[in-house]
Amino acid sequence: MGRLVIVSNRAPSVDGANDSGGLVVALKDALARNGGLWIGCAPEQTDTPAASLVFHHRPEFDIALFELEPNLYRDYYLGYSNSVLWPALHGRVDLIDVQPRYAKAYRKVVRRLARLIADEVSADDMIWVHDYHLIPLAHELKALGVMSRIGFFLHVPLPDLQTFKAIPDWQDLAGCLAEYDLVGVQTQRDLGHMINIFRHILRGELRANGNMGIDGREVVIGCFPISIDVKGFRRLAEEGSVNVPPPALPRLIGVDRLDYSKGLPQRLAGYETFLSRYPGFHNKVGLLQIAPPTRDDVEAYRAIRSELEQLAGRINGRFGTVDWTPVQYIHRALPRDELAVLFRLSRVGLVTPLFDGMNLVAKEYVAAQDQNDPGVLVLSQFAGAAEEMSQALIVNPHDPQDVAEAIRTALEMPLGERVERHRALYAHLDKHDIAHWSSTFLKRLGSVEKIGPEWLALFPELQMRAKAG
Ligand code: ADP
Ligand code: F6P
Repeated sequence: MGRLVIVSNRAPSVDGANDSGGLVVALKDALARNGGLWIGCAPEQTDTPAASLVFHHRPEFDIALFELEPNLYRDYYLGYSNSVLWPALHGRVDLIDVQPRYAKAYRKVVRRLARLIADEVSADDMIWVHDYHLIPLAHELKALGVMSRIGFFLHVPLPDLQTFKAIPDWQDLAGCLAEYDLVGVQTQRDLGHMINIFRHILRGELRANGNMGIDGREVVIGCFPISIDVKGFRRLAEEGSVNVPPPALPRLIGVDRLDYSKGLPQRLAGYETFLSRYPGFHNKVGLLQIAPPTRDDVEAYRAIRSELEQLAGRINGRFGTVDWTPVQYIHRALPRDELAVLFRLSRVGLVTPLFDGMNLVAKEYVAAQDQNDPGVLVLSQFAGAAEEMSQALIVNPHDPQDVAEAIRTALEMPLGERVERHRALYAHLDKHDIAHWSSTFLKRLGSVEKIGPEWLALFPELQMRAKAG
């Protein structure tokens, strides 16, 4: 039995310091079971990158880092990944910044990474590639003769065909996606988009088993809604909140990277509408928005930061009093255990992205609640999580009246209804946690039909040739 090899742009920390992130927690066990390797980009860039992967050993699995030069990294990560793919995949085609050097850097990084991986894996290893930073990896690995099963999971939304076509290399990119043995997306919405993209761009045919026939091969496709370590997060919230007093006023909370896809200005507009419509709530409620910086060197991210600061200032100036600040805004990341407690002690969780693959904050908020006195989740209809979390108050984030009404409904919701909604949300999450997500994906990838390793063992020269490319 081979190893599981995870490949992602961001790697877990070498010393285990950031293991609280859901993905690492989930995959750590899967990696530990069969012996595993996590390959990711080194956090620091260097003018003299190593010619091979740089290995670090952790008790449960190994980490192998690939190093990049600063300029190459900038054009690959800030450039193609986050100034072309991220806006396009989130439906913000107006923000796409096409520079030929970005696409070149992206392909160069993925090609270089493929060579490093090809030297490391054998045919019975299973490779699981994560996210939009690395879409062409299967294509490059196969060109080098790698015979392993290769799966891909997209952590962001896959937009409709027309939006997808705004990416300059849309045909190529669709072809690269179809080279994986299994392609997983977050939601039924995205699965529908993928089928349409494969049909129209690659003349794919949807088969009776739900997979796609493309160019004479079968591409397994599926919807795998990502989740969190539900019990672990609940425990953090329970244990951390034992000696923490509740806030003086009922709190609304928002926790998001400061990203234009998260709908932060629209959220504040909804809150402002709520305050102007319902003066009875003045001095009786507060909004805490925690929004750490992200991808700061991209212009669109700098713009959202100043827009948000202005809006928060305007609301505080308009409604605030000497002893009441309607919006508290924190522009940095907080430790997970602190976040869990803040979620638990907040009456309303505001999760109102304009477009989001899943949104794990929605799941964290629910997991953190006191089941006997839970808060209420206000959730955008455009978050992937809305497909699973219909007992939340579902809103249109573009409509400030709708958001304002949901805030009022949440604040006035009787205990019985809060408990009932929370019970249903929690029960679903408890069954569909992060371990369920990773094991479902891996089981599916493991069952993809390939030339088996037992066949390769009979023909060692075939494997040698495949590796030599
Ligand atoms: P995305 O992957 O687009 O950032 P998600 O909501 O799916 O959005 O995941 C975000 C993750 O980052 C969650 O686990 C959330 O708790 C964490 N996070 C977001 N903001 C902060 C913050 N200010 N401090 C610490 N963690 C944060
Ligand atoms: O969830 C989408 C995603 O892009 C992840 O791949 C990524 O780790 C996370 O958001 C945070 O973004 P970044 O790695 O660019 O800080």
